[in-house]
Amino acid sequence: MKKKITKAIFPVAGLGTRFLPATKSVPKEIMTLVDRPLIQYAIDEARAAGIKEFIFVTSRGKGALEDYFDHAPVLEQELRKKNKTELLDILKNTNMDSGAIAYIRQHKALGLGHAVWCAKRLIGNEPFAVILPDDVIAAEKPCLQEMVEAYEENPGCMVAAMEVPKEKASAYGILDVKAENGPMVSVGGMVEKPEADKAPSNLAVIGRYLLTPDVLRNLNKMKTGAGGEIQLTDAIAAEIEAERPVYGYRFAGQRFDCGSKAGFLQATVAFGLARDDLRDSLMSYLQDIVHVDKAAE
Ligand code: G1P
Repeated sequence: MKKKITKAIFPVAGLGTRFLPATKSVPKEIMTLVDRPLIQYAIDEARAAGIKEFIFVTSRGKGALEDYFDHAPVLEQELRKKNKTELLDILKNTNMDSGAIAYIRQHKALGLGHAVWCAKRLIGNEPFAVILPDDVIAAEKPCLQEMVEAYEENPGCMVAAMEVPKEKASAYGILDVKAENGPMVSVGGMVEKPEADKAPSNLAVIGRYLLTPDVLRNLNKMKTGAGGEIQLTDAIAAEIEAERPVYGYRFAGQRFDCGSKAGFLQATVAFGLARDDLRDSLMSYLQDIVHVDKAAE
């Protein structure tokens, strides 16, 4: 019988140098879109997909992340005293049950594949999810939930997939498409960060993965790939070579690259406009500046 996916790995060891000086003291994953840290979006998506165990692969200087998921008794007591139930609920949503969360350190920045491999003992011999919190996806049905539902019918490895302009291929893992069936893509190969003219398609891997424990075994080899790093893409591609199924899933929704400043700003605007309490004032401000800009042309 195929096993339900209940564990997810969140690789959060990156230094976040693109966001210096902020990331000098604040982990990138704690930076907020409106009023919620990036990591909260990832956790909510995982919960919606039925994840019960949350494994963070961290590094030095990420202590604020652990505090974020801890209970905050003094703050909670204060809010209770003041009868601020709405804020209390928001706060409670950030709490994790004891035992549901684990932190493991990646001691050296050897690549995404290596970060995932670091969680190997906590995963054991079962399928698991990986969520890259930099990729924030706004969708009616959360992306990972969509993928888990598709996985029930098509067990194997599955990656979220999205079309990107060919000239951007070198920023992504790119799929070699064997066959398509609705949103499901049967994958015949995967290349990490190919040059545009060598990309097998314009279908890119986005940071949501459902993986079998075989991928962890492939990572045991510690083979380096693009950029001299141990790549998750290569460990998944090895599954194709072993003739085990790998799928791409064209998810419905909008993905924001919150690993880049422009993507982060776009996400801030989009999530701000989605909020009832902010939409009107933000929209009228945006309209004003667009008008001013147009007039200046
Ligand atoms: C990682 C993966 C890449 C994937 C991308 C999605 O790259 O290695 O295959 O397409 O995430 O965001 P990174 O952005 O960490 O360089």
